[in-house]
Amino acid sequence: MVASRRGSGSITLPTGQTMAIHTRTHEEEDLPHATKKTMADHLRKYESLFTLTPQRMRMIVEAFKDSLELGLQKPKQVVPMIPTFVFGWPTGQESGDFLALDLGGTNLRVCLVTLQGEGKFEMTQTKYRLTEEQKQDEGTKLFDFCAECLKTFIDTNFTDEDGNSLLKPGELLPLGFTFSYPCYQTRIDHGELIRWTKGFGVKNTEGRDVAEMFRQSIEKYELPVQMTALINDTTGTLIASHYVNPKTKIAVIFGTGCNAAYMEDVKNIEKINDLGINEKDQMAINCEWGAFDSFEHEHLPRTKYDIIVDETSNKPGEQAFEKLISGRYLGEILRLVICELIDEGVLFLGQETYKLETPYVFETAFLSLMESDPTDELLMIIGIFTHFFAVETTLAERQFFRALAMLIGRRAARLSACGIAAIVGKMGYLDEGCLVGADGSLYNKYPGFADRVHEGLIDVFGEKGNNIKTVHAEDGSGVGSAIIAAMTKVRRDAGLYPNV
Ligand code: GLC
Repeated sequence: MVASRRGSGSITLPTGQTMAIHTRTHEEEDLPHATKKTMADHLRKYESLFTLTPQRMRMIVEAFKDSLELGLQKPKQVVPMIPTFVFGWPTGQESGDFLALDLGGTNLRVCLVTLQGEGKFEMTQTKYRLTEEQKQDEGTKLFDFCAECLKTFIDTNFTDEDGNSLLKPGELLPLGFTFSYPCYQTRIDHGELIRWTKGFGVKNTEGRDVAEMFRQSIEKYELPVQMTALINDTTGTLIASHYVNPKTKIAVIFGTGCNAAYMEDVKNIEKINDLGINEKDQMAINCEWGAFDSFEHEHLPRTKYDIIVDETSNKPGEQAFEKLISGRYLGEILRLVICELIDEGVLFLGQETYKLETPYVFETAFLSLMESDPTDELLMIIGIFTHFFAVETTLAERQFFRALAMLIGRRAARLSACGIAAIVGKMGYLDEGCLVGADGSLYNKYPGFADRVHEGLIDVFGEKGNNIKTVHAEDGSGVGSAIIAAMTKVRRDAGLYPNV
């Protein structure tokens, strides 16, 4: 809900918490607040830290292009450029019923997708929220949980009113498994987890074939499914968006994590030249671009807050690009700036601030809410700070917080534009133009995010940047996974499995 100018209301956050909006302000209270001038001075400092000039962006794009090329040439590079064994574009005529299981950064989703051809589809789905414990538990437990959820879904959707199965004896439902973490693939239904990202730390899984682990859970629960494809959310988004609009050439996820996929000519993927795949084929590449500039940190402008986010994460050094952009980290970056100003005695003097001092309490959803606050008094921001952190703010402070959110959100969008520009530049898409299928909470919910990405593209390319447009993508993890399962079936039936 958007806060009205008068009266109170409430909003519900993605985490399910609700917050009342107060219309009261605290200007007159006798607390030692920072003056308007002090806040303006501080803002100038953060402006210079978080602003990316067009020139700097172009330098990042060049370095990015080199990393993409290197990842195609040699295995195990920082940006791994993973061959997905998804061959070419869908025809748009793919059809049939497919199950999709989507293990994302926040939720687990089970979908039944009916592809109707001509770029059309229908979908039924159930979502489960993953707990923090599940994200750090044993691998087998996580895959067993996936299988359990799948079982409930099949029991509900494939039985008649008397509880009898609607499946023929021995019938297996084809399933696409969307596993949105970096995996080395040597065929479509296999994938060795390189490393967890997005804060996951599930044990005994890195370095193992996650498709096989999930298959074992499927067997344990005796589910009538055959897992035909293991896919990344970006690859699914690429294929699903192209299914409905063939102008789509690139897909990007701006969610808990940030990553992109695009279609490459097999002859340019030097590192798999020895597999004997037809040189004329094309294959989708899952870039895993969130890893750009990891470890060496040579190209990205990291502030001291970004360095703290990195060093206190469960994977220091890794996912350097993602840590500046994705929904998992933006709130934390802003919180660290606030904490610095608390320590310096600038903010909230005389108030209890311990609620703000816990890492990751400041959700990225708060940044979206702060930026979209329509009231002159910034009532939404009052609500956030009083309700969640029990601190009182002045208008000058609230304006500062809003401006800070804008700086952090804008930097994320402009850096994302650099990634898109690198793929566009490398593939030569600028003159003819293309669509970029985009999805994820930041893209869908953060006000102005898409516009800022477009501004960034124009800063890099000049007017021609207008030829590149992001559009809200089709659901890649559900629909995309179903289309890929259908495409894989066609290849299998034609004897083209595993990879020739
Ligand atoms: C992280 C994952 C990547 C995924 C992205 C978006 O970057 O490593 O596989 O595509 O998040 O969900």
